Amino acid sequence: MARKFLVVGNWKSNGNVLEAMEIVNFLNQAQVPSQDVVEVVVGPKYECLLPVKTSLRPDFHVAAQKGGLESGGAFNGELSVKTLGCLGIQWVILKHAEVRQLVDKTNESAGDRFVHALSVGLKVVVCVGETLEQREAGSTMEDVTAQAIAIADKVSNWDNVVLAYEPLWATGTGKVPTPAQVQEVVHELRKWIEINISTEVAYKTRIIYGGSVNGANCKEFATLPDIDGLLVGAASLTPEFVDIITSAT
Ligand code: G3P
Repeated sequence: MARKFLVVGNWKSNGNVLEAMEIVNFLNQAQVPSQDVVEVVVGPKYECLLPVKTSLRPDFHVAAQKGGLESGGAFNGELSVKTLGCLGIQWVILKHAEVRQLVDKTNESAGDRFVHALSVGLKVVVCVGETLEQREAGSTMEDVTAQAIAIADKVSNWDNVVLAYEPLWATGTGKVPTPAQVQEVVHELRKWIEINISTEVAYKTRIIYGGSVNGANCKEFATLPDIDGLLVGAASLTPEFVDIITSAT
């Protein structure tokens, strides 16, 4: 069975609720391929989750940008993953490049947040990617694999897991790796999964690319052999996102 193409728009901390509704308005009017062809998920910031979820077209889905360390309880400031389910939020983005850079450079917490998100039935986009220093030092696969191991050590069922290769140096920078560089990392990551987890998981797990994707370059990434989707930041805040959604077909 072919892996369904996935396009995720990560709105990060941009805008307010009114601006989020403006994005919802142009998305609700967009002519896009059916959800049988392209699965679309948008990730507003926490305070916009419910307004976006209640007004967005039903064939598009919503992701939280963070999952809590626990399912709920005395964890001040944490986003309870149980609450997300109650809001009809089906997705969560974890270990985003900016979280790796700004909040938690370790791999350890990814696993715990991961386990709680999967335990309540959320679908998880978990990001892996190297720094510019690591790429220039030639240790990209070593670093990306270490991040994948931290995730794999905590996961038994990969059905609700999407990996996002998102080089930290390409996120929000306008710097873009070549398609060959992306294909090489994603292909090696899929091979690593096949060797260390299983052929079935390697075949079924969607691996998507994120990092300065836009309407002009999306097609060259979308058509790479091992890529199953795109994780889009800045370009997802504008109607250009509709072009990116249709780039898959
Ligand atoms: O999560 C995707 C995001 O980090 C990429 O951001 O603005 O480079 O597309 P951008």
